[in-house]
Amino acid sequence: MEHTKEIVLTGDRPTGCLHLGHYIGSLKNRIDLQNIYEKCYIMVADTQALSDNFNNPGKVIENVVEICKDYLAVGIDPLKSTIFIQSMIPELPELMLYYLNLVTLSRLERNPTVKSELQQREFGMSVPVGFLCYPVSQIADITAFKATIVPVGEDQLPMIELSNEVVRRFNITYNKSVLRESRALLGTTKRLVGIDGKSKASKSLNNAIFLCDSDEDIHDKVYRMFTDPDHIRVSDPGKVEGNVVFAYMDAFYEDREELEALKKHYQEGGLGDSSVKSLLSRSLQKLITPIRERRAEITKNYVMDILIDGTARARKEAAKTLGEVKEAIGIVYTRS
Ligand code: TRP
Repeated sequence: MEHTKEIVLTGDRPTGCLHLGHYIGSLKNRIDLQNIYEKCYIMVADTQALSDNFNNPGKVIENVVEICKDYLAVGIDPLKSTIFIQSMIPELPELMLYYLNLVTLSRLERNPTVKSELQQREFGMSVPVGFLCYPVSQIADITAFKATIVPVGEDQLPMIELSNEVVRRFNITYNKSVLRESRALLGTTKRLVGIDGKSKASKSLNNAIFLCDSDEDIHDKVYRMFTDPDHIRVSDPGKVEGNVVFAYMDAFYEDREELEALKKHYQEGGLGDSSVKSLLSRSLQKLITPIRERRAEITKNYVMDILIDGTARARKEAAKTLGEVKEAIGIVYTRS
């Protein structure tokens, strides 16, 4: 096992149970990362989730435990990864407050990630300041743990860029290299299409297969998957591009050689949708069943123990960084 001084930070907003999109996009990765890097932090970003769910805190709170169950069920090891709750670390918003002075409003508004999210959420003229500032809160998350590696999707690259800008600005302004720059770990985050084939798998679009779905749910969802609308008779040649069943086969089917043969057969004609769906359904059930069973064994008490212990460890690191930041600025007051 190769240990390095790299520090990894990842996280999710707790707004629902995790699905296959998360599994292939980030969870699988984190299991590998925790075996390579000595320090891996996984943040349950409840504070950030409130920035667009402030009027529905119950949904966020409930899912803190649920998301942690998902982490543990897929094999994230709390001895290797520090799982913690964002809102229990007051050092994070305190850091954010100092960083807010180093970012301009136009810089935030120009950020492509923020821009597209603002459009998606249809805030119109009523953009909550909290939402606009969440990238700065994210910078606090990254820098508090001196993370050097942040596994993100391509759409998040402007965030990391902004983070490094703030890091440099801080270090130059206060003439001390307290904060560390980070880099995005790309390519590790793959996107998974929803069963409707229209957009990426997500809970809000109701087009995802969840890690807690029953075998029947999985079967039903696979049989509802969008395929090739021109593949009418079994003998017709079919397209695998844009065919959701094959997108999932690509992502999850273990026997790669057989998969290539299946694709060829489908393209030539003579292979029915339901035969492929049956293979996919069984293979997804084989993947999800042990996760669902482990998940059912995990008690809320156990989850809370993991979260409280992880948060205590994480908070120590954040407090150390905050101390250094305040010292660099010079706001350390003592009785003389
Ligand atoms: N933005 C991430 C999400 O929506 C969660 C998150 C918050 C995060 N702070 C972070 C991820 C810092 C990486 C680094 O799920």
